[in-house]
Amino acid sequence: MCNEVKIQKAAEILRKSKYTIAFTGAGISVESGIPPFRGDDGIWSKYDPKTLELGFFYENPLESWEVITQLFYDYFGKAQSNKAHIVLAEMEKRGMLKCVITQNIDNLHQQAGSKVVHEFHGNSQKLVCTGCHSYFVPEDMDFDNLPPHCSKCGGLLKPDFIFFGESIPVDAFENSVEAAGKANAVILIGSTGEVMPAAQVPYIAKQNGATIIEVNPEKSNFTRSITDVFLEGKAAEVMEKLNDALFGKK
Ligand code: APR
Repeated sequence: MCNEVKIQKAAEILRKSKYTIAFTGAGISVESGIPPFRGDDGIWSKYDPKTLELGFFYENPLESWEVITQLFYDYFGKAQSNKAHIVLAEMEKRGMLKCVITQNIDNLHQQAGSKVVHEFHGNSQKLVCTGCHSYFVPEDMDFDNLPPHCSKCGGLLKPDFIFFGESIPVDAFENSVEAAGKANAVILIGSTGEVMPAAQVPYIAKQNGATIIEVNPEKSNFTRSITDVFLEGKAAEVMEKLNDALFGKK
């Protein structure tokens, strides 16, 4: 568990920082009931990542959609943002955080109130037709009738998040790289740092002189290379302590 001294040190860095960004991964949503991809009990220990490869999706839409529905839409609408998402939104509101750069597609940062969220891997809130590129929302979907097809042109629908082998949304990429280049401090929460190019973002910030504050119950690729202050623990618990150190205990 991270100790009080490190929490105070992190709070001091954040109070002094003129340009702070957050970089988040699946770990920040674990306490909202959404499992991580890697680690014990992770999604990839139960499902084959190939089902989220773009080529596999087009060749085996039913098999891919059966996994997609279990992974993302069975949780859909049930998961609630937790204290970690809420503290980041509060920091933004108080002018202490410029943006959240997230690898997550669960929309929990927006649900918590964050306004500037760069979604490196897209978002599960929309579906797009691979034929006519019309957009739909999951509420319009009949998940008992897979794979879903477009009501306008009959084309195959795809979740609007990024599959393996698919390019990163240009806006999210450019905005994230720009923010990382300006950051004095990064709050890095819940990521193994296994997946590129997303995991480059904290490295870009570090190269530009940013101080890296990492929140994770376990060490990650970042801990061993660029982290300056490692707050060992679960996101909601640690961010609650950081919130108290920054804004005073309520
Ligand atoms: N609080 C904070 N971190 C946690 C918690 C928690 N309660 N529980 C687990 N973690 C940490 C794990 O220790 C691990 O470092 O969250 C991280 C989860 O790692 P991954 O599942 O690999 O998540 P992430 O790094 O976001 O994966 C990146 O991989 O499959 C792709 O597109 C997918 O966006 C995802 C990308």
